[in-house]
Amino acid sequence: MADQGKLRLGVNIDHVATVRNARGGAYPDPLRAAAMAQDAGADGITAHLREDRRHISDADIDGLMAMLRVPLNFEMAATPEMQQIALRHKPHAVCIVPEKREERTTEGGLDVAREENRLAHFIAPLREAGSRVSIFIAAEQRQIEAAHRIGAEVIELHTGAYCDHHADGALAARDAELVRLTEMARFAHGLGLEVHAGHGLTYDTVAPIAALPELRELNIGHFLIGEAIFRGLPTAIQDMRRLMDDART
Ligand code: PXP
Repeated sequence: MADQGKLRLGVNIDHVATVRNARGGAYPDPLRAAAMAQDAGADGITAHLREDRRHISDADIDGLMAMLRVPLNFEMAATPEMQQIALRHKPHAVCIVPEKREERTTEGGLDVAREENRLAHFIAPLREAGSRVSIFIAAEQRQIEAAHRIGAEVIELHTGAYCDHHADGALAARDAELVRLTEMARFAHGLGLEVHAGHGLTYDTVAPIAALPELRELNIGHFLIGEAIFRGLPTAIQDMRRLMDDART
């Protein structure tokens, strides 16, 4: 039986930096958002240092490492440069994500099955340095098995397709995707992997995902930062937290 423990909420602050960088100045400050998020009950802070530095900067990561009380989940592509940065900071968790320069956001999961050898060598030093390594993948059995074989402790299941189908009103496709996520969360948990999920989650889509008993963490960013414009960041986070807790009981 899966662990019914508390579902952690990781708040992704990337898009505070997106707004800051739209003007090239110092505000809004992602570190201030991170401090506010942790005070509002975030269990962790997630930040993606992209190769093109389009939102989070190297200085943001320095600042987060210095000020956070809650764990930092450092998202990065599997490149030598990012590996060096992660090894310098030794964050609590490193989440390996695919990155394409032209994409607007992380569009799909990592194809671990195709790059198994390279990724096994890539993550080994990160694990030795003490970071928990998570792999962001689609809910596919062969990707989960490959993530397990390379020695990842955590997988994060990509919820983007489920959320997109919901937004498009494609309810049959959405429900099929939810079945896939449900089955694959169970499968990964059965292998001994810790299972997280995220991407595109909103107040409308979070409950069925939060209800999956195998999940230990959700990472949510863009919607919360957008909603903060209307409700304020602490309320936006607390409202999400409540929906997650309600779905769990
Ligand atoms: N999880 C991972 C691995 C991601 O790459 C992202 C987006 O950076 C998220 C969660 C959060 O997605 P969103 O900003 O759509 O909530």
